[in-house]
Amino acid sequence: MAQPTASSSASERRQSVRTGVVWEGVRRLLEPGDATDGRQARIVDIGGGTGGFAVPLAELGHTVQVIDPSPDALASLDRRAREAGVADRVTGQQGDLSDLPDLADEADLVLCHGVLEMVDDPAASLASIADVLRPDGHLSLLVAQRHAAVVARAMAGHFQAARELLDDAPDGSAGHASGGPVGRGGRRFTHDEVVDLLAGAGLHPEWVHAVRVFADLVPGSLLDLEPGATAALVELEKAVATRPEYLPLAAQLHVVARR
Ligand SMILES: C[S@@+](CC[C@H](N)C(=O)[O-])C[C@H]1O[C@@H](n2cnc3c(N)ncnc32)[C@H](O)[C@@H]1O
Repeated sequence: MAQPTASSSASERRQSVRTGVVWEGVRRLLEPGDATDGRQARIVDIGGGTGGFAVPLAELGHTVQVIDPSPDALASLDRRAREAGVADRVTGQQGDLSDLPDLADEADLVLCHGVLEMVDDPAASLASIADVLRPDGHLSLLVAQRHAAVVARAMAGHFQAARELLDDAPDGSAGHASGGPVGRGGRRFTHDEVVDLLAGAGLHPEWVHAVRVFADLVPGSLLDLEPGATAALVELEKAVATRPEYLPLAAQLHVVARR
């Protein structure tokens, strides 16, 4: 995945701020001496969309199966993989997280980034993921974090929305009796809720990183106009990612768990 440079476009710079910490965490799992010991890994990217992670992972030599309900996203994935010359290592398949065990082969690593927020039953979804992971395989889970979302709504003047989000639980037990997705952006999770959900699925968290602690608070114009600002912000995000005191401020939590 490209690092921000002076010649990067504005959208590439923003993307590097949003994904820098997560990409570094995923890459670490695939290094020699780590989960797959540097060999070619079998990766399933559930809800992998247009291949923002799948294609760079295939460029590293791994095989990636993307499963996503959106035909448009899968068409973009296909185009992106061909342009990058990795079409032989990336497969796209239309499908839903709830059907994962029927769709995926055994995997060394499952990515589930930005999807748990939208499913009907997060606990059952994590159990499906555990089903396709090989013993000692890893899950890379990226979820929206509730406390930062409450602050963001309050700062935007949406006080009622902030108040409602405050008491939502991922199983819908507070405020959303239907258990359906919460709000336009889907569910939000706290660190403890994610850890409990993972434990319920028989998955063992190895580490949790804070993602986008500052990225959403910094005006885009600052990154566009100030030379070097994006690279400095990416470094700052990496520096706070591993500090537990910043977890409640993070827009997202990146959790890596082992089966
Ligand atoms: C926020 S995007 C994240 C895309 C990608 N994982 C990333 O991090 O860039 C959510 C993706 O999840 C997919 N999705 C939504 N509901 C899903 C479900 N029930 N099962 C699997 N994927 C789903 C959407 O089509 C979309 O591509």
